[in-house]
Amino acid sequence: MEKLEFMQDGENSSASHRSIWVNGPVIVGAGPSGLGTAACLRENGVPFVVLERADCLASLWQNRTYDRLKLHLSKRFCEFPNLPFPDDYPNYPNRRQFIDYIQSYADHFDIHPQFRECVQSAHYDETLGLWRVRTTAATDPADVESSPQVEYICRWLVVATGENADCVVPQIEGLRDFKGEVLHVADYKSGEKFSGKRVLVVGCGNSGMEVSLDLCNHNAHPFMVVRSSVHVLPREVLGKSTFELAAILMNWLPLWMVDKLLLVLAWLFFGNLEKLGIRRPSTGPLELKNKGGKTPVLDIGALGKIRSGSIKVVPAEIKHFVGSNQVEFVNGCRLEFDSVVLATGYKSNVRSWLQETDFFGNNGYPKTPFPNGWKGSRGLYAVGFTRRGLFGAASDAAKIGADIGSLWKQESEQQQEEKTVSSISCHRRCTSHKTILNPIHQSHSVENI
Ligand SMILES: Cc1cc2nc3c(=O)[nH]c(=O)nc-3n(C[C@H](O)[C@H](O)[C@H](O)COP(=O)(O)OP(=O)(O)OC[C@H]3O[C@@H](n4cnc5c(N)ncnc54)[C@H](O)[C@@H]3O)c2cc1C
Ligand SMILES: NC(=O)c1ccc[n+]([C@@H]2O[C@H](COP(=O)([O-])OP(=O)(O)OC[C@H]3O[C@@H](n4cnc5c(N)ncnc54)[C@H](OP(=O)(O)O)[C@@H]3O)[C@@H](O)[C@H]2O)c1
Repeated sequence: MEKLEFMQDGENSSASHRSIWVNGPVIVGAGPSGLGTAACLRENGVPFVVLERADCLASLWQNRTYDRLKLHLSKRFCEFPNLPFPDDYPNYPNRRQFIDYIQSYADHFDIHPQFRECVQSAHYDETLGLWRVRTTAATDPADVESSPQVEYICRWLVVATGENADCVVPQIEGLRDFKGEVLHVADYKSGEKFSGKRVLVVGCGNSGMEVSLDLCNHNAHPFMVVRSSVHVLPREVLGKSTFELAAILMNWLPLWMVDKLLLVLAWLFFGNLEKLGIRRPSTGPLELKNKGGKTPVLDIGALGKIRSGSIKVVPAEIKHFVGSNQVEFVNGCRLEFDSVVLATGYKSNVRSWLQETDFFGNNGYPKTPFPNGWKGSRGLYAVGFTRRGLFGAASDAAKIGADIGSLWKQESEQQQEEKTVSSISCHRRCTSHKTILNPIHQSHSVENI
């Protein structure tokens, strides 16, 4: 016999091997997407529980980003629903300001996630018509079996674990024998400790470009691997964010034409980048983002450093590592390095825990494209998988809050009516009567089943 408890946001669960009935939806992930959804549910009067594997809010931003990071879209595209950034924030808030904003957001909407609760599995129980979500405090798969487990049972499940839940770490021959430091960019904080060193930066997305720039600024010698093609755009045009400009143009022009205009702008700003070893994809930046999720680089100074030779571009894939400190590239070039930073990207982890294949595809993203990928069937929702950053997450969160909110309201009204009818008949008959409540609106009772 397991113990069934009833719970909502803010209450603590610390016993082992328990089943907990959640009065409202379970949200997996306390990043911007999970918090935004929680706030929208709060606004609609729906209680919820947020489960987070880390020990803090927005762990990506707190633990896995570098010191010099600033939002690369202007703040109006990065704020969460129902609470703007403070007026005195700059147009591109830095990492610290963004984290402070997240904390004040959670405080404002009274959101208290269950920390150190890593969701190991979630499946829909056809018999009960409910989701069963199993968590442990352990994040390391080796410790999961021995760690106490909690099962949350709920009507609605909101997946908010993000597009960047796990690091992509390539298997490169010989990398294990490399004697210098090797780290993923998620563990990179600052270039300070690399001063004077030759650092191989693998990858040329926004992370690879910005880390290379940071290394330069700390007197290190970065070499950036560019194995395929990449779009680089100016972050701003005539004082206006390029993203904002594109969003405005999209109101009037088809996507392919906006892409063409962006490429003309990029050419006017940067000229021909092929001379620097950077090839442009044949598909336009917005179309590429929509189709494959590949984000264009918004330049904040790396191109200037490439032009001046402070960042060296290696326009070839790595063939293998040789001995303790050398790397051979497929073009035959062989170079020595002191350290390696893998700026090789991130991936969704949804496939590793969610036992559902109708709504989520093999890549861990909803199969239905934006703007309809936020709602599955049987009470399943997804927030923050639109490949549109914080802007897309805020839009999903508002829709989910309104959708569950209206179901909640309907059911509350229905139950109120049932209660009234039941109490009138009870009063008339003057007999003892047992009222069976839908467990959704029960709270705080603890029973054994
Ligand atoms: C370096 C960097 C800079 C970025 N800058 C911008 C920017 O300027 N503008 C922009 O719009 N976007 C930016 N992004 C994209 C950014 O990731 C998102 O916009 C934002 O963080 C997404 O929020 P999220 O809540 O969906 O995901 P996350 O912030 O990743 O939050 C997901 C949460 O889920 C938790 N979680 C994961 N798996 C589990 C599990 N199994 N059980 C329990 N909890 C789990 C994680 O610990 C995490 O706290 C950036 C991304 C990176 C990597
Ligand atoms: N300031 C900011 O706001 C900021 C800063 C950093 C990141 N971000 C965001 O964070 C998200 C992730 O960005 P990211 O740059 O970390 O990842 P990313 O955009 O996925 O880029 C990964 C890069 O690694 C390369 N790569 C992967 N495996 C490789 C291998 N084996 N050998 C050589 N190259 C390899 C990829 O090359 P291919 O293209 O050839 O696969 C690509 O250039 C994006 O949404 C980005 O916009 C934002």
